[in-house]
Amino acid sequence: MKKKITIGMLGLGTVGGGTLAILQKNKAELQRKLGVDLEVKRIAVRDVKKPRSVAVDPVLLTDNQDAVLLDPEIDIVVEVMGGTEAARSAIKKALENGKYVVTANKDLMAQHGPELLAVAEACGKNIYYEASVGGGIPLIRPLKYCLGANRIKKVMGIINGTTNYILTQMSREGKEFDEALAEAQARGFAEADPTNDISGRDAAYKLNILASLAFSTVVQMEDIFLEGIDNVKLRDIRYARELGYAVKLLAVGEETEAGLVLRVHPALIPLDHPLAAVENEFNAIFLEGDAVGEVMFYGRGAGAMPTGSAVCADIMDAARAIKNEQQNGVLETTFTRKKVVPMQDQHSRFYLRLKAEDEPGVFAKLAHAFGAARVSLDMIIQKRSDAKTAEIVLVTHDVSEGAFAKALASLREMPAIRIINSILRVIE
Ligand SMILES: NC(=O)c1ccc[n+]([C@@H]2O[C@H](COP(=O)([O-])OP(=O)(O)OC[C@H]3O[C@@H](n4cnc5c(N)ncnc54)[C@H](OP(=O)(O)O)[C@@H]3O)[C@@H](O)[C@H]2O)c1
Repeated sequence: MKKKITIGMLGLGTVGGGTLAILQKNKAELQRKLGVDLEVKRIAVRDVKKPRSVAVDPVLLTDNQDAVLLDPEIDIVVEVMGGTEAARSAIKKALENGKYVVTANKDLMAQHGPELLAVAEACGKNIYYEASVGGGIPLIRPLKYCLGANRIKKVMGIINGTTNYILTQMSREGKEFDEALAEAQARGFAEADPTNDISGRDAAYKLNILASLAFSTVVQMEDIFLEGIDNVKLRDIRYARELGYAVKLLAVGEETEAGLVLRVHPALIPLDHPLAAVENEFNAIFLEGDAVGEVMFYGRGAGAMPTGSAVCADIMDAARAIKNEQQNGVLETTFTRKKVVPMQDQHSRFYLRLKAEDEPGVFAKLAHAFGAARVSLDMIIQKRSDAKTAEIVLVTHDVSEGAFAKALASLREMPAIRIINSILRVIE
């Protein structure tokens, strides 16, 4: 039986630094738990001269990935460099050279997970990717193991800390989107290029990974309806709160009789819903299983140490598999492809803010346009008006996206409607 398991890392940035710091700090603890020593032998980076956030012997660093991927002594390759193509070929090479792989790379696992897991299976190894969703929050392992006997009906949550931080700042501090984004960047909760977070794409990658596991299906990125938070206005957050709702970027995956519902978009959720209380950079995910009922996970979805915590747990799992000479752990290569409900057939309630001519009969005209499209209204409120225009907020009952789009088209034709400012979905 092996006494020492050898690790090679690709990347020593935020997550790599956290991972190495935990391996150093808790070395004795990990050895006690595993019954083997974990040793980091090589770390590939782009620039070996760059100062590091963690103490590292410079001889470990290399700018040659093959020094990690082809070293026969290395048992586990930890990919924490990010990107898609370079990481994909590095992981394939690691597996083909007999190594177990741990990765935090959601972009990669969302887009190429099934392909890479198939390579792992063919090589008799495994890929562990707990850190790819929810940072330090356990999600992948609970879905694979603890909740494995359930049919998962629903996955819903806040899985992007950057956007949750921005929306919290808008709501709590009364900041507009641009100001809240600048603050998130200054405090390290948003990257210099925040496009993937703001557009909802990062959350969609994570939903893809969660939904694949939850519903045992291959999810493609095009299956997920995507809308970001860049059009969420402070005014809407205030009106939503008056109506008893918080605005959150939600990722929703549901298995319905009609097929899978997969979407990421900002949504109004009731203030007494547990997700409404999830603030700043925190993440929270609801899972609903047919046997267990509802389960909620909450914690830090990013950052060096929380994400490093998940990476280290995966390293431990890989080490156990190696120590016990198991061929691999649980592999998800038997996924089928389930039907996805087209967006126009999916249902929501809608919040709408618009400006109309302040003239008699406008409410009646609006109600008529919605009625003609078979969309029934739950509320219609006049918020403010100046001399000529009235600001109106509407909330519909549950409607299909298709019916709502029809109502919207006829609203846009109405001369009395000056502008439709905001459209947000409402999730009860
Ligand atoms: N940051 C988070 O909180 C977080 C949370 C969950 C998941 N993740 C995922 O974890 C991964 C790493 O993210 P991060 O924030 O740690 O990134 P990061 O801080 O930018 O670090 C990337 C590291 O990879 C190295 N690197 C980049 N390209 C390389 C290449 N071609 N060959 C060798 N080394 C290369 C860089 O080297 P140099 O240092 O020399 O430039 C750097 O050390 C990403 O997939 C990300 O999506 C991040």
